[in-house]
Amino acid sequence: MNTSGVIQLNKTSQVILIGLVVGGIIWFKMSSRGSGSSTMEVGGASVAKVTDVVVKEVKDLKVDVNGEAVIVAYRETSVDKPKMDILFLHGQAFKSLTWVSEPMWTLQHFGKLGYRTVAIDLPGFGDSPRATPDPAAFLEAVIRELKLNAPVIVSPSMSGSYSLPYLFKDTKHVLSRCRGYIPVAPVYTENYTAKQYASLQVPALVIYGEKDVTIGKVSLNNFKNLPKKTIVELEGARHPCYLDRPDEFHSHMEAFLEKIR
Ligand SMILES: *[C@@H]1O[C@H](CO)[C@@H](O)[C@H](O)[C@H]1NC(C)=O
Repeated sequence: MNTSGVIQLNKTSQVILIGLVVGGIIWFKMSSRGSGSSTMEVGGASVAKVTDVVVKEVKDLKVDVNGEAVIVAYRETSVDKPKMDILFLHGQAFKSLTWVSEPMWTLQHFGKLGYRTVAIDLPGFGDSPRATPDPAAFLEAVIRELKLNAPVIVSPSMSGSYSLPYLFKDTKHVLSRCRGYIPVAPVYTENYTAKQYASLQVPALVIYGEKDVTIGKVSLNNFKNLPKKTIVELEGARHPCYLDRPDEFHSHMEAFLEKIR
């Protein structure tokens, strides 16, 4: 009678309690996972948003290119004792902002992993005023001015007009100028011969989109002559393949950086 009523009540409250605990656990797991690409796990333990990483923005770095002053805007994440430095260039329709915003968050991603990252606005793009410096000398000046240490260079599309002259300017010392090269279907690869590519001892991650049948295929055809390369085709991705497959793009980059460290 009375007892069964008490038991009945206890069962009900037990069910409610269990419901609350299970619900709470599910809610915690869901919310800590957050919104897809903007979050990540570090060592499988602490969970933090990559968007929490501080990005420094500079609009008026002055670099000396063969005696000519060129103004460069850039974005940067820094850490104590970086694993390596990474310099991000960009394509015609893009700018440094591309690497720090949806859907990429690339600077924050690699900043969190312990790399120093810098993305510049090439002359005439983003916040960098128009200028026509010698491309190789320009990158040399930026790298010198920002004290980047033989940075890995990520070079999509139009930025090939800077990265390729920089790499081919001094192939003998290329490793002290660039620790690794990540071309993403850059332009002008056809300006250099198979023999020139064969002499370029920089480790490369050649990455392009499956649907990029023009510049992607042309650049692949030239880069296949590099002696030290990893070739990655991103399934279903277009010319700016990183935008279509940010997570895969990052994980291939991570594996490559670990390998050349
Ligand atoms: C490639 O060749 C074209 C045509 O000669 C030239 O305009 C361009 O500056 C060259 N670019 C590079 C990166 O070598």
